[in-house]
Formats: sequence, C-alpha cells, structure tokens
Amino acid sequence: ETVEWDPEQAGKGTYDHFMLKEIHEQPTSLSQAIEGRIDPAGGRIALADFEPGTFADVDSVQFVACGTSYHAALYGSLALNQAGVQSTALLANEYSVSAPPIDDDTLVIAVTQSGETADTLTALRRAAREGAATLTLTNVVGSTAAREADDALFIRAGPEIGVAATKTFSSQAVMLTLLAQRIAADLRGEPPADLEALLPELESMPAAIDDVLAGSAAKTVARRYSDSEAYFFIGRGLGYPVALEGALKFKEITYEHAEGFASGELKHGPLALVTPETPVFAIFTGQEDEKTLKNAEEAQTRGAPVIAVCPDDHPAVEVADDHLPIPDTEPDLAGLLANVQLQLVSYHAADLLGRPIDKPRNLAKSVTVE
Ligand code: G6P
Repeated sequence: ETVEWDPEQAGKGTYDHFMLKEIHEQPTSLSQAIEGRIDPAGGRIALADFEPGTFADVDSVQFVACGTSYHAALYGSLALNQAGVQSTALLANEYSVSAPPIDDDTLVIAVTQSGETADTLTALRRAAREGAATLTLTNVVGSTAAREADDALFIRAGPEIGVAATKTFSSQAVMLTLLAQRIAADLRGEPPADLEALLPELESMPAAIDDVLAGSAAKTVARRYSDSEAYFFIGRGLGYPVALEGALKFKEITYEHAEGFASGELKHGPLALVTPETPVFAIFTGQEDEKTLKNAEEAQTRGAPVIAVCPDDHPAVEVADDHLPIPDTEPDLAGLLANVQLQLVSYHAADLLGRPIDKPRNLAKSVTVE
C-alpha cells in the first residue's frame, strides 16, 4: 500500500490553511526581522551594511510597490513624513507614467515580497536610469529586485505560500519603521526624540502579536457580520494603510466587496454607501483617535455597525457595536497589531463562506507580467 504524500499539505502542520499558519507565524517572523537590528540599550537602529550616516544626503524618498507591498510602502512613507523626511509612495504600475522628479539625492525603495513583480522591477529600473539611489526591501535573497538595486534589505519572514500576503506585510512594515527612524537619524545627525519610547515597544511586538492571536473576538465578529452587503475599513495616519490592507485582504479571500478609506474621507463620498448592511471596521492607532471616533459615529448614525479595533481601555469601546482588542503600544506600531485582528477576521469570514483561501480565484502569488 502506498500513501499519497502532498508536500504542501504536510507543510501546513496542524493548520487548515497556509494563511492561518502564516498569520500565526508572525511572532516568530517579526523576531527574525528585528533580530540584531535594534539596540534599545544604545538607543539606536543597527542595520548591517548601512553604517550610521549612510542616508545623510538623502533629500527625499520615493517608494514603489504593488498590492499588499504597496500598503507597507505607504506605511513606511507616512512614517518618514511623520519623522520629518520628505517621502511619497507610488504604485509601481503608475510610476512609468507619473514618477515624481528624481535627482541624485533621491532614494527609491522598491518594496516587494517576491522581488519578481514585473511592475515593480520596471519602476526600479526607471529610477536607476534617472539617477536615483535604489534600495530593495524583499523577502527573497537572490531575487531580481534584490540583485538589481544598489542595496537590499531582507525581511527574513521565511516562505509565504498563501497568495494573500500576511506575515510579510507585518515584517515589511516593521522594517520600514526601523528604516524611517534610521533615515531621520542620519539626516539630523541624532536619533529622533521619540525613538527611545519606540525601541522597547518594537522589541515587544512579537509578544503583543501573541496576545492578539490568543483571543477569539475575530471569529465571533466574522460570524456575526457574515451576511453583510459590503465591508468598510477606516483609519487615520498610520491606520490608513492598515485600512487599505484590511479591505484588500478581505476582498482577496472572501470575494465580498470591501473598501478601505481614510477616516476623514468617509464624509466626502463613501458615506453614501453606508447602510445597516455595511459594517465599518474602525482602526485606532492613537493619532487623532477622537476624530476617527467621530467619523465612525457618523456611520453608526446611518445604521452601520461599528467594530472598533483598539485597546480595551479605549473610549471607542463604549461607542462601538463590537470590539477587536489590541495591546496598548506606540502609534507607530498600533496599526500592525490591528492588522493582525483584521487578517483573522478575513480568514474566518472566508472560511465560513467556504472559499479556497490559500489560492483565491484569478490571483497569483507573484505577477511577472505588466
Ligand atoms: C500579487 C499578489 C499580492 C502581492 C503583489 C505584490 O498581486 O497576489 O499578494 O501583494 O503581487 O507582490 P510582491 O511580491 O511584489 O510583494
């Protein structure tokens, strides 16, 4: 008698899907990402190959990326802006028609899990041709984007099999948070004032994600709202790219309509879509939360259930219809904990609907055509 052995099946361990396994790997993959790269005692970010001062001449940073990596890139770009460094994030497939001006002091960072996305490679090559310094942030050592850029930084997340990116998004965003702090420090010649508070929180991210994974609120919320017409996600500041990513994950694997908005934009159009059948997931990161709460209440007034993603002691808990808890942390990182809750909601919603999850229809892990 022979036993059929499916290596993919074996690789899932006790999980029903790679996506769930990879969501649960995040404490480990994040520990690997930050290992040796932060030094809370010395109050600095240590990136091997990038000596202090490497980025001292950078006068602006442009990010190019697609899909989930674009959301990580936007996260990094906003973090740079908040640290006082001029930066923009562009969809790589738009870059060929509308790249902003480049000069010798422009740093272009390609963010790509696979390092093989055609749109991103085209953008990276254009940036190099126009004289920018280039850097690739990727998961794959030896990938085309890693080889072609002037420098490469690796997120060390390990293989990701699920088409919907999960652990690699978290590692990209954390690496870009580190990089933003380093670039800001190099430009100023001294570490940003808030770095001291951030470093220990960065170190405790794996434990904080463990806390999120140990809860069961996401499954309950997924079940409660599984018959909805559409799903909206709102966030402000670093919560905005998380809202976009929450919606992308949801549409990729549930095939349901989901959209992410900047909280403050809800009233400028999307509010017309809001009904009792459109749950609104509101992400609170500690950046102007009172405004996001007001935006969420505007949706609630139109009958929409509001699901607050925030710490237990947050004022939004009193107002919201449901709550997805996250540990208290710095605003630079809170959105990444919220994102883990949203990954779990998408997963459980897709599972309830009987979707294939690891290989959604029409999508590929890596798109090597433009
Ligand atoms: C594909 C995948 C997405 C991914 C995007 C960018 O569309 O389905 O999950 O985010 O490519 O991939 P990259 O490898 O460049 O991060």
